[in-house]
Amino acid sequence: MLAIEKKEILTQINEQLKALISDEYDYLANLSNAAALLYNELEDVNWAGFYLMKNGELVLGPFQGLPACIRIEVGSGVCGSAVEDEKTYIVEDVHKFEGHIACDSASESEIVIPLYSDDRIVGVLDIDSPIKGRFDETDKKHLEEFAKLLTKESKFQIDALESIKTRRSVRKYKDKKVEKEKINELIDSARLAPSGKNIQPVEYVIIEDGKRREELANIVSGGDFIAEAPLTIAVISKKCEHDIEDGSAATENILISARAQGLDSCWVAGYKKDYNKGVEEFLELSDDYRLISLLAIGYSDQRPTPPNKKSIEEVIHYEKF
Ligand code: SME
Repeated sequence: MLAIEKKEILTQINEQLKALISDEYDYLANLSNAAALLYNELEDVNWAGFYLMKNGELVLGPFQGLPACIRIEVGSGVCGSAVEDEKTYIVEDVHKFEGHIACDSASESEIVIPLYSDDRIVGVLDIDSPIKGRFDETDKKHLEEFAKLLTKESKFQIDALESIKTRRSVRKYKDKKVEKEKINELIDSARLAPSGKNIQPVEYVIIEDGKRREELANIVSGGDFIAEAPLTIAVISKKCEHDIEDGSAATENILISARAQGLDSCWVAGYKKDYNKGVEEFLELSDDYRLISLLAIGYSDQRPTPPNKKSIEEVIHYEKF
């Protein structure tokens, strides 16, 4: 195929993708259409699809072609290498790639492109061809653009159980604002938390202003990173029978919702802290409200190692203590 012809086809595919996904944010729907588009429009391709990051490994996502292997470890095969090294891999001859994972014996060459959402790798785009040396720099350029368009339009949410299990307290944040849409989603998750007798005493103060966050960081102890994280949410509750329980449930919902949206967080204050009076004055709370928690939220600039947690056996009791 002439280089100019290839460029035209790839440009056209990217235009088609824009039209296909412009009104849709569901990532599974968008990835499914994207796989079908690539498989049907690209020449000499026998597999086109996605592997998605789940609990630290790649798991098969929407694709077109023969059934494929389901799980790939980070660092394994072409897909796992692309994730580990955070770069596109063009493999001219799969038989010469050490550790290549063969799904379709017809595959001779392959291109794998990492997918990023909010700077974190959420999966890879993988395309196989029955022809050696099928993919070149022109494919790479246009398909990387394809991957960018796709992730920009799609909401990659982490499933609730995975969010719970992979959440870590983060104390170092990137200088990147949290989108308004995501803040609304956090508060939506919080307002739906259980509330005793459905009194719903909990409310939220959003603090984004840098100067205000600095002032707040000076009031609390052990929360210097409030000044750095782009967003602080103060969870406050009208004093009532279940204000602590309701506020704590709402707080936990925010932390899990943050993780599900690719954000990280740290729970700073508690309702018993000495500095609470100062925070309540800073927030200009009326006397009938109390501070429940302060939550630093943003995009992580660190990879905290998982803390040691007790095993299920150590904490579970049946019928009696
Ligand atoms: N060849 C890939 C595995 C996925 S299949 O090509 C669909 C790899 O080595 O990671």
